[in-house]
Amino acid sequence: MVLIDTDPGTDDAIALLMALGPGAPLEVGGLTTVGGNARLADATRNALAVLEYLDRGDVPVARGASRPLRGSYPYAYGFHGPRGLTVRLPEPTITTQDGDAVDFLQRNLRSRSSQTTLLALGPLTNVARLLRADPDAPSLVSRLVVMGGAVGVPGNVTPHAEFNFHSDPEAAGEVLASGIETTLVDLRVCRQAAISRDGATRLLAGGPAARLAGGILLGWFQRNPGRDAYELCDPVAMAALLDPGILRTRRGSVEVETCDQDRLGESTLTPGPGPVMVSTELDGKRFFDLFYRTLGAPAFDP
Ligand code: RIB
Ligand code: CA
Repeated sequence: MVLIDTDPGTDDAIALLMALGPGAPLEVGGLTTVGGNARLADATRNALAVLEYLDRGDVPVARGASRPLRGSYPYAYGFHGPRGLTVRLPEPTITTQDGDAVDFLQRNLRSRSSQTTLLALGPLTNVARLLRADPDAPSLVSRLVVMGGAVGVPGNVTPHAEFNFHSDPEAAGEVLASGIETTLVDLRVCRQAAISRDGATRLLAGGPAARLAGGILLGWFQRNPGRDAYELCDPVAMAALLDPGILRTRRGSVEVETCDQDRLGESTLTPGPGPVMVSTELDGKRFFDLFYRTLGAPAFDP
């Protein structure tokens, strides 16, 4: 069973469409939302709207953090669109669970006899708050897959830091130091998963999940006429959960800068024994085959 923490956000929405689309045999136990790409209210509405679009109102959603452990989220409306998405979905009629994300995560982790994987696609505030609230949490999460970090490569918010880690560096540091077996899908491999306008257009020939993913991407290209590729960050993390073999990784421990203001959110790997497997290379063909298949679209070389 998989629990997904997310800040939809265009690439989060596409990752959710992969998980809940026709081609993914994934048991999604629920979503928790977090501010980041958008304000918590927008991210939560977008998560509910995507679920309703897919007629998956059975998937519970719990609201999480509206701000990081310290400070506030910078948001990325310029990139993700005025309400956090580049398409306008109908206002959802489904609603969130009572209680917040930490309660939801704790209850689900403790009630499940089966192994639980946690996929984190936004700032790690909810996961860090879970670890602070429940000392047993690390033993209840069998595997953590995180989209975040820029290990040995330039960031996308500052020269040193990736958006999720820069948005809440304290949370990222605490989560990566928790000892949970973690796959860290960072910007190095996301940059190997860029899709073109043609690749996005191809999605329109697929089923509902593929068509919405295509609409989100073409909406982004319309807002960014000078760009010729969109980096599929969260979809790569989703694909790494579905098929770990798409990544080569390097094991060690990862520290996150929380003091030096110029390097805030920077992620540094110390190779060796440690709980974190950092992505080093992506099998692009295997990723895109999985991407189109899970969305229910004809295969295409993007
Ligand atoms: O840096 C990319 C990550 O930050 C993605 O998860 C994107 O959705 C934003 O949350
Ligand atoms: Ca995200």
